Amino acid sequence: MEKGTNITVFIRRFDPEKDPAPRQQQYTLHVERGMTVLDGLHMIKQTQDPSVGFRFSCRMGVCGSCGMMINGVPGLSCNTQILDVATTALTLAPLPNFNLIRDLVPDLVPMFGVIKGLQPYIQRNDVEEMENPTMEYFQTPHQLEEYLQFSYCIKCGSCMAACPTMATDKEYLGPAPLTQAYRYNTDSRDDAGDARRDLVAASHGIFNCHYAGECSNVCPKGVDPARAIQLMKKDLVLRYFGLGKHKCAHLCKKPDRSTYKPKIEAAPFTIGQ
Ligand code: SF4
Ligand code: FES
Repeated sequence: MEKGTNITVFIRRFDPEKDPAPRQQQYTLHVERGMTVLDGLHMIKQTQDPSVGFRFSCRMGVCGSCGMMINGVPGLSCNTQILDVATTALTLAPLPNFNLIRDLVPDLVPMFGVIKGLQPYIQRNDVEEMENPTMEYFQTPHQLEEYLQFSYCIKCGSCMAACPTMATDKEYLGPAPLTQAYRYNTDSRDDAGDARRDLVAASHGIFNCHYAGECSNVCPKGVDPARAIQLMKKDLVLRYFGLGKHKCAHLCKKPDRSTYKPKIEAAPFTIGQ
């Protein structure tokens, strides 16, 4: 049976309302195989220092609450095993490019506000059908695959923390919101693409992306925001030259799935792993 090992955990501590400057606090933690960074933080909080601030909810990579810098890389503390990333020392810090609430807790509310501003919901021209539906909004399997990968986003903010454009332009919309705009623009049931395209093409919008690709490298859900952003840029340029695809969110009949074999794996990454 494995006995585990002791590692040193460095946690960046800072309460903007009380502390004059951030400091690094050091803890010794006994780690065993299978222990996640979030487990380690709970252990430190319960046995050594109840004042350490961190956020979590689901503990299973679904809610997006627990994003932080883990040895300098953005990720989810609940689905990162300590021994996969550290043998002697583990450094934890809050996600950059966000305001700080306390210690390891970034303020994600502005990102949620930007996502909301890009209208991440299905809007249709046939208001009467929306209000008094006569049938379901069916999609073909191919239409679903067009946006499925981008719908896996859990709004954890890791991509925003990794983005060099976010680091230099606080008004940049950011990879997570832009990906959601693309996700809905690509949805065959939606009619609001023109409104979203105007929003993303404005200043501090999609063309400020330099295609560093770090957003896709760090995304814990395989969403590939860099791919969404490049596809949306391509769509905007084609439309500028009058070559864009014209989508019409008409009601379609129930697709025949009898011969269809769904793809289980996500679409290939834009950025090499
Ligand atoms: S795209 Fe990925 S990294 Fe960015 S917020 Fe969504 S899940 Fe997190
Ligand atoms: S606690 Fe929910 S994603 Fe980590």
